[in-house]
Amino acid sequence: MTTASVILAHPYEKSFNHAIFQRCIESLKRLGCRVYAHDLYAEGFDPVMPRSELGKMETTDPLVRRYAAEMLESSLLVYVHPNWWGHPPAMMTGYIDRIFRPPYAYDYDEAKEGDPGTGKLGGKVGIVFNTGNTAADREEERFHDPLETEWTNCLFGFCGMARSDRRLFRIVADSTKEQRELWLDEVEATLRSHAVSL
Ligand SMILES: Cc1cc2nc3c(=O)[nH]c(=O)nc-3n(C[C@H](O)[C@H](O)[C@H](O)COP(=O)(O)O)c2cc1C
Repeated sequence: MTTASVILAHPYEKSFNHAIFQRCIESLKRLGCRVYAHDLYAEGFDPVMPRSELGKMETTDPLVRRYAAEMLESSLLVYVHPNWWGHPPAMMTGYIDRIFRPPYAYDYDEAKEGDPGTGKLGGKVGIVFNTGNTAADREEERFHDPLETEWTNCLFGFCGMARSDRRLFRIVADSTKEQRELWLDEVEATLRSHAVSL
């Protein structure tokens, strides 16, 4: 059985991001996956990484331990969040800081000077669903799609994940109900295309 983790960072339960999150859970269950799903705001996750987590010391925060263990157990890792000034909301950035760290997502040899680290998420598939209010040509030409750089090139690449996928749904502010339904179907189709090959 495929295990999947779905992580959401959006503060409003009636947002389109919440609708994506719910569709992810339903779709993955329909596909027969075991699903771990977390709404970081609803669970009161603390996104501020403390000094004690700067190296690779084990954390004492039970939520961090749980999210990290589930990430390692899952073969499909799904992240849902809006584009806020070219970044994920601080809640997701804090999740990244505290979970995508050694010894969970990558590790390095302290005895080897300058060891850049080795990814520990090899073989997993990373999927990101983003939303935004900027037109595609403006996002790519003017802003260079910084979320693509962060997730695909930086995080997934560094942590050893060769397979990933990312969808950016836009423009949410102008979208019709019909368009949002089509986007939710695309969410389901994207998950299906990856889950069947795991
Ligand atoms: C603090 C903040 C910053 C934002 N920055 C951007 C941005 O840089 N680019 C963009 O396309 N949309 C930006 N937006 C718009 C959100 O991406 C948009 O409201 C969201 O994707 C819509 O989905 P939702 O209905 O689930 O919130 C921003 C919104 C907020 C609240």
